[in-house]
Amino acid sequence: MRFLAGEVGIRQFLDLGTGLPTADNTHQVAQQVAPESRIVYVDNDPLVLVHARALLTSSPEGVTDYVDADVRDPD
Ligand SMILES: C[S@@+](CC[C@H](N)C(=O)[O-])C[C@H]1O[C@@H](n2cnc3c(N)ncnc32)[C@H](O)[C@@H]1O
Repeated sequence: MRFLAGEVGIRQFLDLGTGLPTADNTHQVAQQVAPESRIVYVDNDPLVLVHARALLTSSPEGVTDYVDADVRDPD
């Protein structure tokens, strides 16, 4: 994440299979390097999404959002 957000300069990330929030989540690492980074988390476990919405909050400059979806159904 640090390499992609830093050296490569990527500012949009799609995190498939979010899992329960822990330390150094995707958006935290990306937004430490580049606060304007935009991250969308995708998971199909309702419990994961409840925790994610409560705990994974964006930097003021960036965006963090969540999609309740099955990654095998990209449409
Ligand atoms: C082991 S956790 C991964 C957590 C975190 N990404 C990590 O690498 O530490 C796997 C997550 O993928 C989600 N998952 C599994 N199959 C999925 C699918 N078909 N669509 C969306 N999410 C899925 C599960 O609900 C679970 O939260």
